[in-house]
Amino acid sequence: MIPDEAVSEGFRAQFGVLPELLAHAPGRVNLIGDHTDYNGGFVLPVAIEREIRIAARIRGDRVIRLYSGNFSSEVTIEVDRPKIAQGRERWGNYPMGIVAEFEARGVRVPGMEACLVGDVPGGAGLSSSAALEIAMAVLLNEASGAKLSRRELALLGQAAEHGPYVGVQCGIMDQYISAMAREGSALLIDCHTLDARQVPISPAACGILIINSNKRRGLVTSEYNQRRREAEEGLRLLKELSGGSYPSLRFVPADDYARHAEALPEVIRRRVRHVLTENALVLEFAEAIESGDMERAGSRMYASHVSLRDDYETSCEELDFVVECCKKLPAVYGCRITGGGFGGCAVALVRPGEEPAIEALLTSEYARRFGVEPGFIRTRAAGCAAVQRI
Ligand code: GLA
Repeated sequence: MIPDEAVSEGFRAQFGVLPELLAHAPGRVNLIGDHTDYNGGFVLPVAIEREIRIAARIRGDRVIRLYSGNFSSEVTIEVDRPKIAQGRERWGNYPMGIVAEFEARGVRVPGMEACLVGDVPGGAGLSSSAALEIAMAVLLNEASGAKLSRRELALLGQAAEHGPYVGVQCGIMDQYISAMAREGSALLIDCHTLDARQVPISPAACGILIINSNKRRGLVTSEYNQRRREAEEGLRLLKELSGGSYPSLRFVPADDYARHAEALPEVIRRRVRHVLTENALVLEFAEAIESGDMERAGSRMYASHVSLRDDYETSCEELDFVVECCKKLPAVYGCRITGGGFGGCAVALVRPGEEPAIEALLTSEYARRFGVEPGFIRTRAAGCAAVQRI
């Protein structure tokens, strides 16, 4: 976690005065339920103890000067004349998208100076972009007096990601958990109704261990958007074949799928099967956690990995290897790829206190196989984004 003083000091060093607003928003790790959110299904993420923090001061005009301590780069957003940032300033497109979405909702965004710093690893599947979007969203919500609800802020963050500045057709999970997480709990989110139920994850029952493959994710946007199109094609074909009127793949009854699966093109069939399998696994996993049955919960994580590996094809050799190694370790209840995929991280639930031994073992096995060491993040289920005036 980054202390408030560090970001305030960064602001002062950059702008020569003290900030008046401090905002922060967490990254997330998804315990189970990937590529289900944009199919109207279930997800079960937790916010992690890694976040983006922003210190800011309002100006009298409509210019936003944003300095990123991580990139050592400054972006200027002219609220009345926004333009897409290029090159080293590309990170500025996320806040720019948020500004544009507030304005599109009729909220007048004030100018400001802002300094941000984060410790969510970028490009690792831990939602550094959603953390940046939601940190910016809670900040502008306060600075403008817009008083949008947390749910509206999550939807606004998703819209920013869909829009011209970013262009990823993401689901709602990442922005939702960053805006609405509850400390000590995962959230079982129904991405159709946008209702959520807290599923307490006690550190006494299990540790949450994130294993970073350190494999740079390539082609994420194009592969991700393609998966989304394939799932939508599956829905369209199944409706046509069955005459059903399901609002999303989540509502396709198992019988309908079984009856018409053969008529679907092979790739589409596997994409649809993943969504149906994964939604069932999320609900079983949540029940298992709630009844304290860690072995059963873990088995659902392994099953989810297989579905993402074989049917949705979002895994990679490195993460398959991590999951296979974990399967051999009795101290690991379950492990799976997490998030959008195509590289990035796996998440494991482990016996409390066993993290050091598990990390040592995985490090040596992984390094022997791939010549690089994996990274690790131990986390508890963290709380949601917040903003304060100082
Ligand atoms: C990315 C997206 C989410 C979700 C996951 C996969 O993180 O932003 O909406 O689709 O991938 O579960």
